[in-house]
Amino acid sequence: MDMSRRTVMAGAAAAGITAASIGNAHATGGRKPVKSLFGTLADGTKIYSWSLENGGTKLKVLSYGGIVQSLEIPDRRGRYTNVSLGFDNIEDYVAKSPYFGALIGRYGNRIGQGRFTLDGKSYQLSVNDGANSLHGGAQGFDKRVWDIEPFTKGSDVGLYLYYTSVDGEMGYPGTLRVKVTYTLTRSGDWRIDYEATTDKATVVNLTSHVYWNLAGEGSGTIENHELKIAASRYTPVDSGLIPTGELAPVAGTPFDFRRTKAIGEDIREAHQQLLYGKGIDHNWVLDKGITARPEWIATLKDPASGRTLTMATTEPGLQFYSGNFLDGTLVGPSGRTYRQGDALCLETQHFPDSPNQPSFPSTLLRPGQTYRSTTVHSFGA
Ligand code: GLA
Repeated sequence: MDMSRRTVMAGAAAAGITAASIGNAHATGGRKPVKSLFGTLADGTKIYSWSLENGGTKLKVLSYGGIVQSLEIPDRRGRYTNVSLGFDNIEDYVAKSPYFGALIGRYGNRIGQGRFTLDGKSYQLSVNDGANSLHGGAQGFDKRVWDIEPFTKGSDVGLYLYYTSVDGEMGYPGTLRVKVTYTLTRSGDWRIDYEATTDKATVVNLTSHVYWNLAGEGSGTIENHELKIAASRYTPVDSGLIPTGELAPVAGTPFDFRRTKAIGEDIREAHQQLLYGKGIDHNWVLDKGITARPEWIATLKDPASGRTLTMATTEPGLQFYSGNFLDGTLVGPSGRTYRQGDALCLETQHFPDSPNQPSFPSTLLRPGQTYRSTTVHSFGA
């Protein structure tokens, strides 16, 4: 058992989940990732889908945006379903995806006014969310074509994803070389390792934007999913969803997920923060802080199917977004529409707008340093 899995297990035990229920219900052994054509961009670029399978988890990843197009896990009776929202064609991903399954960069979540100052120089980023810059700007990493290399290593299978963001792209300084590793372990964990280097001082905050519905994509609301988050504080926001700078206690608010709670339980409370977010769209300040190894931070459960997702990360923050902007206009691979609250995102990250919040953990990356971040997803039923 590797270190990350041990820490997930320790956290899972704290959340009342047994070893037998985590990830390894249907160990099948890994096989070499398989590549197939998914579609073609308007400029003729071919987009490939990579299929991976290990330890009972089946993953499909696109070279466009590093998108997790499908993630299948069994329920308590062994029935597989795709638990992540997406599309079955490249055109919809290009034209209208709200970041379904995508890699997010250079900066996950918002930077206020799309502006920040670094070493006395101010930078104006691409603004794509009212007055703010969201998820790296208009053409973020979710809309880039990544170079993908498959690997098998011991009992693990996976993909290396590479993208080089040129100096000035979306307004960010420095050439940023990014390597993301998706690993499926023999116990069926999906692990993401992010790495980046720069040739000029810059800011970086990478994450993954999977929309989870453990009952299956297209199956309806996640309000009955139960969630536990190891965080006593969160970062309240203004009406533009930019943090005020305060680290507010979750105690006595709808944001208290320290004990397992159904997502729908408090989501209609007339709390100012829920009004701003049209539901939950906030960053939790994880009690463990930044860690060298991934540590348990959250457990999600769909009581009906029994499926669970247990997450561990090295990051200090978690953006929990309750699918508030899904409005019934997008159709998933199941042929069913996605309505508000039909999925949730759990994005491990540094806090939003950190470049403008000196008291938040720093997102600064300098030449010679390597940005590193790891998140592990373990599944059970
Ligand atoms: C993040 C943001 C949300 C929204 C979604 C995608 O979770 O915080 O406000 O932009 O991504 O729609």
